Amino acid sequence: MSVGFIGAGRMAQALSRGFISKGIVKPQKMMASDQSESILDFMKKQGVSTTNCNIELVERCDLVVMAVKPHLVADVLQEISDFFTTDKMFVSIAAGVPLEVLETNLPEETRVLRAMPNTACLVHAGATVIAPGKFVRNGDASLVQKLFQTVGLCYVGTEDQLDAVTGLSGSGPAYAFATIESLADGGVKMGLPRDMATKLAAQTLFGAAKMVLESGKHPGQLKDEVCSPGGTTITAMHELERGGFRGTIMDAVEASALKAKEMGELEVQKQEERTQEMENEQANEEQKSEEKKMEKVEKKVKMSSPQ
Ligand SMILES: NC(=O)c1ccc[n+]([C@@H]2O[C@H](COP(=O)([O-])OP(=O)(O)OC[C@H]3O[C@@H](n4cnc5c(N)ncnc54)[C@H](OP(=O)(O)O)[C@@H]3O)[C@@H](O)[C@H]2O)c1
Repeated sequence: MSVGFIGAGRMAQALSRGFISKGIVKPQKMMASDQSESILDFMKKQGVSTTNCNIELVERCDLVVMAVKPHLVADVLQEISDFFTTDKMFVSIAAGVPLEVLETNLPEETRVLRAMPNTACLVHAGATVIAPGKFVRNGDASLVQKLFQTVGLCYVGTEDQLDAVTGLSGSGPAYAFATIESLADGGVKMGLPRDMATKLAAQTLFGAAKMVLESGKHPGQLKDEVCSPGGTTITAMHELERGGFRGTIMDAVEASALKAKEMGELEVQKQEERTQEMENEQANEEQKSEEKKMEKVEKKVKMSSPQ
């Protein structure tokens, strides 16, 4: 199977590195298209073929990954649509662009999947959920899952879960970065040097995450296990509760998910406007050609009628 990336930026580079390092796709079977030569150089160094032409990539690859910024997706789809065939698969990682928009802009029955990865894919510790479209075949979703598992955890879900996924794991790294920064600030306030405080904070989150993933224990149980009666940790937990810590994090996930939903609805609305515009243009063309036909008929009638 050959895999192509439209857009060879940070995510495409992380994914291609993952595929190669886990031996899932050979570099000779991969291609990347981008407008920038310096970006393509990274891919070339890994043995991936490169091009500036998205159409050439589509023609040469079995699985095409759309990895450009979301606002560029519609234009690229228009460019490649005529060259897409149903034996190929299309995977979009563009945040907030719904399956409906992708499927409408590709030929009927195209096998489309949408993926919501997060930035930690860049260090191969990502969290991704993929949602299959209407026309995927048996085995398509598990194949794409296997690809994303090369850069972290990957679930197969449904599109209606993706807004919540955006709120949790999509935006989540930012909440974790802010937590690390706050822990470090606390350490500095209490006398630690900045560098040591930041590293201790990051390692603490990393270690806690590892314990949740590896022990299979409920995070509440793990928390209880480190809160000794009358001790330092339960005293700190009380402060966190007083500050609405858990409620605030739940509110953040909800706010991000609702924003993602709103953005998805806007994309669908834009798509409807594009479709309406195209229908209007077509109707105008048809009217013009009808008028031309009528003019010709009228001319003929005039010329053939006796003076
Ligand atoms: N990075 C993340 O953490 C993350 C997480 C989840 C989802 N995503 C999604 O992943 C996608 C890619 O993100 P990224 O961070 O990898 O972006 P990026 O680093 O900006 O990469 C996108 C690349 O596409 C190129 N490009 C622009 N127009 C193109 C065209 N018409 N044809 C081919 N290539 C074109 C860009 O070139 P120029 O720079 O010259 O325009 C750039 O090199 C986005 O849709 C984003 O929503 C990213």
